[in-house]
Amino acid sequence: MSLRSKLPHIGTTIFTVMSQMASEEGAINLSQGFPGFGADPVLLDLVGKYTREGFNQYAPMAGIPSMRKILSEKTQLTQGYFPDPDREVTIVSGATEAIFSAVSAIVRVGDEVIILEPAYDSYEPAILLNGGIPVYVPLNSTDFSVDWEQVEIAISSKTRAILVNSPHNPSGFVWAENDLNALANLIRDREIYVVSDEVYEHITFDEKRHFSLGAHPELKEKTFVCGSFGKTFHVTGWKIGYCIAPPALTEEFRKIHQYVTFSTVTPIQYAFAEYLEVPDRYLSIPSFYQGKRDFFAKGLKETLFEVIPSHGSFFQLVSYGHLSEISDRELAEKMTRKLKVACIPVSVFYANKKDDKIIRFCFAKTNEDLSKGIERLQNLRSIL
Ligand SMILES: Cc1ncc(COP(=O)(O)O)c(C=O)c1O
Repeated sequence: MSLRSKLPHIGTTIFTVMSQMASEEGAINLSQGFPGFGADPVLLDLVGKYTREGFNQYAPMAGIPSMRKILSEKTQLTQGYFPDPDREVTIVSGATEAIFSAVSAIVRVGDEVIILEPAYDSYEPAILLNGGIPVYVPLNSTDFSVDWEQVEIAISSKTRAILVNSPHNPSGFVWAENDLNALANLIRDREIYVVSDEVYEHITFDEKRHFSLGAHPELKEKTFVCGSFGKTFHVTGWKIGYCIAPPALTEEFRKIHQYVTFSTVTPIQYAFAEYLEVPDRYLSIPSFYQGKRDFFAKGLKETLFEVIPSHGSFFQLVSYGHLSEISDRELAEKMTRKLKVACIPVSVFYANKKDDKIIRFCFAKTNEDLSKGIERLQNLRSIL
C-alpha cells in the first residue's frame, strides 16, 4: 500500500529546517519567530498556582468564561468594541488552530480563497485540505502594501474568502484604516468571508497602530479575527490563542474547533484570565519591541544589507540583490553554516518560490544575541 498524500508538495517547514540547522551549527537563531527570552515570572507563577490548585481537567469547549470575558475587556480597551464573550469569543490552541478552524468552517470544495503573498505558511494547507483553491495575489514588492486593484481582479464568482495578515509576517507592514475600507468596499454585497490573522496585534512601531478588522463597522460581520497569546506574551510553546467572530460564524467555528482539539489547556487559561487584569502587561509590549527593532535595525545599517523598514511584528527584512545573485535559500544556508547566523529566505513565503533576494530576521531575541548576530554579519562579503 502506498498512501497518496493529500499535500504532496509540502515537506518539513523551512522554520524547522533552519532552526535545526542553526542548532547543529551552533548559530545564532534569528530565523524562527519565537522569543529568545523568558516570559514574565508573574505569568509563570500563575500557571504553577493553577496547576497545583487542581485546574487540570478539560476546560469548557469555548474556553473558560473568565478568560473570554477578560479578552473582551482587552478588546474594548485596545480596539473600542466589546465582543460578546459567550457568543463571539472562542479560546483556541494557538492562532494556527484558529485559522484552520475558520477556514474549515467556511471553505467548501471548489471555493476560491485569496491569499496575499508573501504569506505565512499555514494558510495554503488549510485551504487545500478543505478542497479549496488558493488564489495568490502579490503584495507590492517595494513596501509590501496591498495592491487593491490586484485583489479586485482576483475576485471571482467562486471567491469564498480572503486571508489577511496585519501586522504582517514576514514584512512588518501594518495596514492603515484605508486598507480596511478598501477591503470592505471590495467585498460589500458579496458572500466573501475574511480570516484575519492578527497575531502581532500588540507589536506595532512609530506612529502606526493596529486596526482590528473586528472593529470595522462593515468587516466585523464577515470576519474571523485570529489572535495568539503565545506571540504577545513570549510563550509561543503554550499554543494558546483566540478567535473572535459574529455569533453565526462563531457557531460554525466551534463545530470545527470542538473536533480539532475540543478545548484548550485549562491552567493556562486560568493564568491568563488573571494576568490580563493588568492592562499595562499588554500595553507595554509595543515599546518593548520597538526598542529591539531600533537596536537591530541600527546594527544592520552597519552591514552591507539594505534594510526594508519594519513597522510591526518582530521581523526585519533585508535585501541583498545589489550585492549578489546568489539565491536566498543558498544565502540563508551559507549564513548559518559559515557566519553562524540563521535567517529565513523570503522565497518560501511564495507559492511559486519567487526569489527577490530578501531574507527575514526575527529580532525577538536578547540584545546580546542581536549584537553577536550583527557582529557576524559584518563578514557578509566573505560568503558572497
Ligand atoms: C502570521 C502568523 N500567524 C500565525 C502564527 C501562529 O501562531 P500560534 O503559534 O499562536 O499558532 C504565526 C507564528 O509564527 C505567524 O507568524
